[in-house]
Amino acid sequence: MAGGNNDSGGAPGGVPFDPRIETKLGIPIKNIVAVASGKGGVGKSTVSVNLAVSLAQTGAAVGLLDADIYGPNIPIMMGVDEMPPVEAGKLVPAEAHGVRFMSMGFLLPPEQALIWRGPMLHKAIQQLFTDVRWEELDYLIVDLPPGTGDAQLSLAQIAPLSGGLIVTMPQMVSVADARRGAAAFEQLEVPILGVIENMSGEIFGRGGGETAAGELGTALLGVVGLDAAISASGDGGRPIVAASPDSEAARTFGELAQKVVAQLRAVSGGSQPQLKIV
Ligand SMILES: Nc1ncnc2c1ncn2[C@@H]1O[C@H](COP(=O)(O)OP(=O)(O)O)[C@@H](O)[C@H]1O
Ligand SMILES: [Mg+2]
Repeated sequence: MAGGNNDSGGAPGGVPFDPRIETKLGIPIKNIVAVASGKGGVGKSTVSVNLAVSLAQTGAAVGLLDADIYGPNIPIMMGVDEMPPVEAGKLVPAEAHGVRFMSMGFLLPPEQALIWRGPMLHKAIQQLFTDVRWEELDYLIVDLPPGTGDAQLSLAQIAPLSGGLIVTMPQMVSVADARRGAAAFEQLEVPILGVIENMSGEIFGRGGGETAAGELGTALLGVVGLDAAISASGDGGRPIVAASPDSEAARTFGELAQKVVAQLRAVSGGSQPQLKIV
């Protein structure tokens, strides 16, 4: 599935291309998208995983980097608990659901609480690029730790980020967190591609994503409902877009993937993102 030999990468109009990445890192990655949120538990990893698998389902070559030092749970969500053996001194990404991925969780001793000092964190994030045998990728999705701390800064220093996504919950308190996450991207001069409202519905309400997008002057790229199937499929190692591709949730993530590509194309073309969902 993650063929990479598909000219379109599933994107009508071609895969957007951010030339800074290969120039700086020497790795043939066309786009890096960082997924952030002001705080944990809003569904950042769920969105990252389903976005990555959706993009791969369109025929694109997709990588997923789990840089969440506090809760590296992408391996569980992808259903793979260890990485392949090291080859020629390089870490080899695991592969599942058509996506190649690497996780901080593979590199950390299990159950060990680490106190991350800035330089240590920086080095660890650097290794996720330099010590991993990434191959040609159309999109690398990076699941960041929550908050606006050292990890964002390190990542942005190490790798050119083509764009950032903000995941928020529907409530207003969450919107305030989203604003902080967005401010970090702005400071680092990372274009904000848009906002995703997650866990929308009766329980947590609706509308935080639209409010946040409006305040940030960016697009609302998707509204994902609170849905037990999303959570169960993540826990079971089969993201909903793979487990139930015909579900409403899978359709929402599929549309999100298309909109992310459109936004990347807009920013890589030198113009600002213009897509607005009303
Ligand atoms: N739309 C959703 N509907 C139901 N449960 C969800 C949804 N999105 C995330 N979850 C669940 O909420 C919890 C936190 O999500 P996660 O993606 O791990 O958040 P984060 O990475 O922001 O900490 C997980 O148990 C996940 O399965
Ligand atoms: Mg997470």
